[in-house]
Amino acid sequence: MNSIFTPVRLGRTTLPNRLVMAPMTRSRAAFDGTPGELAAEYYAQRAGVGLIVTEGTQPSDDGQGYLTTPGIYTPAHVAGWRKITSAVHDKGGHIFIQLMHAGRMSHPDNTPHHRQSVAPSAIAPGTGMFTAIGMQDIPTPRPLTTEEVRQTVADFRHAARSAIEAGADGVEIHGANAYLVQQFFAPSANTRTDQYGGSIENRARFAVEVAAAIAEEIGADRTSIRLSPGTTIWGIDEGAEGPDLYRYLIAELDKLGLAYVHIMHQGSEPLLADIRKLWHKSLILNRPGRPRDQIGADVASGLVDLEAYGQMVLANPDFAVRLKANAAMNEADHNTYFGGTARGYIDYPALSA
Ligand SMILES: Cc1cc2nc3c(=O)[nH]c(=O)nc-3n(C[C@H](O)[C@H](O)[C@H](O)COP(=O)(O)O)c2cc1C
Repeated sequence: MNSIFTPVRLGRTTLPNRLVMAPMTRSRAAFDGTPGELAAEYYAQRAGVGLIVTEGTQPSDDGQGYLTTPGIYTPAHVAGWRKITSAVHDKGGHIFIQLMHAGRMSHPDNTPHHRQSVAPSAIAPGTGMFTAIGMQDIPTPRPLTTEEVRQTVADFRHAARSAIEAGADGVEIHGANAYLVQQFFAPSANTRTDQYGGSIENRARFAVEVAAAIAEEIGADRTSIRLSPGTTIWGIDEGAEGPDLYRYLIAELDKLGLAYVHIMHQGSEPLLADIRKLWHKSLILNRPGRPRDQIGADVASGLVDLEAYGQMVLANPDFAVRLKANAAMNEADHNTYFGGTARGYIDYPALSA
C-alpha cells in the first residue's frame, strides 16, 4: 500500500511525497503579465508539497481571460518566473507552470489588446466575468481559422520553451474547466466543420497536437495535461460521447508518454478506472472539496499515484507538515482569492517551530 508520504518518480524527477498543489489563479500579476513581486515567496512557502502546479498562465495575448493573470511568452515574463522557480528550488521543491488559454472565457477589457476573444466557434459561454469595472457579460467570441488553430498550437510550444527557460521543471496544459482546450471537446462550444470539429478524433485533435508539439519542444517527460471529464460549467456539454472522447484522448496521449495526466474529477468513477487502465504514466487526482480524513485514500487504494489539493494548500503553506502531524489547518479566506496584495496570499501562518 502506497502512502502519500512516500517518494514517487514523476517525469525527470523524484518527488519526496505524493501531494500536489493544484493550480490556482490568484490574479496578482502586473498588467503586462509579469508575475507579481510576492509570487516567489508565495510559491516558496508551499514548496513542501511534492509538486507545485502554478496558477493558469497564458501562452499569448489571446490566451488571457481574467484580469492580471501571468503570462509566459515575453522576456519579462521569463525573468519574472525565474525568480519564482529559483525560490521554489532553493526550498527543495518542484514546479510545473500551468499553460492556460482561456478561449471564449475571456473579456476584451481584461486582455492587453482588448480584441474580441477567440474560440472554436462563435458561441458565447452564457455567463459573466469580473473586469476592472465589475461583472460584465462575456461577449460572443470569434472562431479561430484553421491556420490560427495551428498558430495557437505554436503559441503553446513557444510558451513551454519559455517556461523551461524560466527554470520550470515542466508544464501542465490546462485542458480542464471549460477553457480553450475543453471548448474544442464539447459539441456545445465546437460546431466546426474542419479537422478540429465533428468526430471525437477531430474534437480531441487540438489537445493532442498541443501535447505533441510541447513534448517535441521540451520533452514528453516535462509535459503534462489537466482534464476535467464531464464538466458542465459555463456552457460546456460534452454530450453522450463525452466518456468515449476521453478514452480516445487518453489512449492518444499515452502514446506520447507525457509525465502525467491530472484529473480534476467531476465525472464518473468507472471512467476514472478506465483512465487508470489506459494511462501508463503518473496519474494525479483532484477531488474538489475532498475532506481531510480522505487525504491519501486514493493513493493508498492504488487508484492514482498522487493527489492534488487546492484551497487547503492555499491556506496552509506547511500543508504537508500539518497533515503528517495531524495538526489543525487554517481556513481559506475566499475574499482574498483573486487580486489584492499580501493579505490572504503570503500571510497564512505556518505552525510555530
Ligand atoms: C482561487 C482558485 C483559483 C483556481 N484557478 C485554477 C486554475 O488557474 N487552473 C486550474 O486548472 N484550476 C483552478 N482552480 C481549481 C483548483 O485547481 C481545484 O481543482 C479546486 O480548487 C478544487 O480542489 P480543492 O477542493 O482541493 O480546492 C482554482 C481554484 C481556486 C479555489
